[in-house]
Amino acid sequence: MNSKVKITITGTGFVGLVTAAVFADKGFSVVALDIDQEKVDAVNKGETFFFEPHLPPLIQRVVLKKKTLTATTDIAESIKSSDVTFICVGTPSLEDGSCDLQYIEQSARDIGRAIKEKNDYHLVIAKSTIVPGTTRNLIKKAIEEESGKKAGEGFGLCMSPEFLREGQSVHDTVFPDRIVIGEHDKKSGEMLEGIFRALYSEKVDEYTKNWKAIYNKQVQCPEILRFSLETAECIKYANNSFLATKISFINEFANICERIKGVDINNIAKGIGLDFRINPRFLRAGAGFGGSCFPKDVRAIMKFAQDVDYEPKILNSVIGVNTHQAKRMVELAEEKLETLSGKVVCILGLSFKPETDDMRSAPSIKIVDQLLSKDAKIIAYDPKAMNEAKKEHWIGNKITYANSIQDALKDSDICMLITEWAEFKSLEPKDFKSMKNPILIDGRRIYEPEKFLKEGIKYSGIGLGLKSN
Ligand SMILES: NC(=O)c1ccc[n+]([C@@H]2O[C@H](COP(=O)([O-])OP(=O)(O)OC[C@H]3O[C@@H](n4cnc5c(N)ncnc54)[C@H](O)[C@@H]3O)[C@@H](O)[C@H]2O)c1
Repeated sequence: MNSKVKITITGTGFVGLVTAAVFADKGFSVVALDIDQEKVDAVNKGETFFFEPHLPPLIQRVVLKKKTLTATTDIAESIKSSDVTFICVGTPSLEDGSCDLQYIEQSARDIGRAIKEKNDYHLVIAKSTIVPGTTRNLIKKAIEEESGKKAGEGFGLCMSPEFLREGQSVHDTVFPDRIVIGEHDKKSGEMLEGIFRALYSEKVDEYTKNWKAIYNKQVQCPEILRFSLETAECIKYANNSFLATKISFINEFANICERIKGVDINNIAKGIGLDFRINPRFLRAGAGFGGSCFPKDVRAIMKFAQDVDYEPKILNSVIGVNTHQAKRMVELAEEKLETLSGKVVCILGLSFKPETDDMRSAPSIKIVDQLLSKDAKIIAYDPKAMNEAKKEHWIGNKITYANSIQDALKDSDICMLITEWAEFKSLEPKDFKSMKNPILIDGRRIYEPEKFLKEGIKYSGIGLGLKSN
């Protein structure tokens, strides 16, 4: 297997675009397919349509210079001229928490119709996060129905979950921890393993040199694990559920610590994080998790479990604790101000985490929503996510957006830090002095409480067992 393999990526969102760009950078010929003409046009101009570090120069390089990536809305053409298709379309939540598979089915049917006329073998890989059984029962069935071909004979089929983190998605695609392949049959698994081995080849070339220069580490082929389709689907849900559990666990302890004078959750996290069985990652207490994956994936696997007659007790609590954290942020504000009615609340950070402009299920939405219901006035600042926030129907035009941190802080009654962007971390107590009566609620525990309290800032933080001053 070599980089002569031609690839179609269907669904050019966060996952699809980054995957397409990295394969194209390695020299594979890649077509990014989407139903959204605006996204296709942007890619063909060498532009990106969401904020992601290192992505803009990569897209420019592969589209305009190397010419290894093009985008289209023409599925039949792109699949006819490629050997492999990765399905990266969205799998959002339905009202009851279950995974909405309509885009997956649409995509599988399109692929089936396109491969009908092809004489050569085509490998289809589901990369989207899909509940166990979806590749076999939905994707395989839809492709077989539309193409008249049989999986394992007329076409190949795999499931390979994606683990990239938004904000670090280019890094994570170039340097994944591991590759998981769920295979319908041995031939499909071997073909996909070959493609990944070509992508992660350690042979020194322009690609490996470039990424070494950027990240100061060598491209290496990670461990490649091959299992059944259902195991691969399940690994993704177990992965995200475990990480969400870790966050809710530390938040639960933060809530306990707040009731013990002199105990700080950050010290607890340090103390347990050095136990190699626990490790320090995902042990930061705060305003809760959000984003396009954790809330939807935990809810989807919970619904799946219920449908197969199991009540997921831990996961139920993980969501419960997470919902509580947004309320806790508002309670902390209310502990400092008698009423929030008519008060100006400065919100620092809107995106669900730093280094992304993604607002999907961001904790800021829940927090702002509750503040608005208490008649507070909101002035918000985020380095990258304000345009996305304006589109968010829950908060969109109900709040004021500031042009800078200082504009947001000036004359506000209270400041709530919700996303730990680097530029917020460097703020000093003096920066908060332009507020009416400086009160700071640190929702990500990025500041040293003592330093702020000493300088006259009324400081509260999640998980800080300090009586209010
Ligand atoms: N965003 C992440 O951090 C992340 C990480 C790991 C896994 N995932 C999973 O990857 C999948 C994609 O996530 P995303 O964040 O990239 O989604 P996204 O919403 O950003 O992108 C999905 C894209 O699919 C396109 N699309 C929909 N139907 C289509 C069709 N029939 N044909 C072609 N294109 C179609 C949409 O227009 C959109 O551009 C989801 O299952 C998600 O859970 C996401």
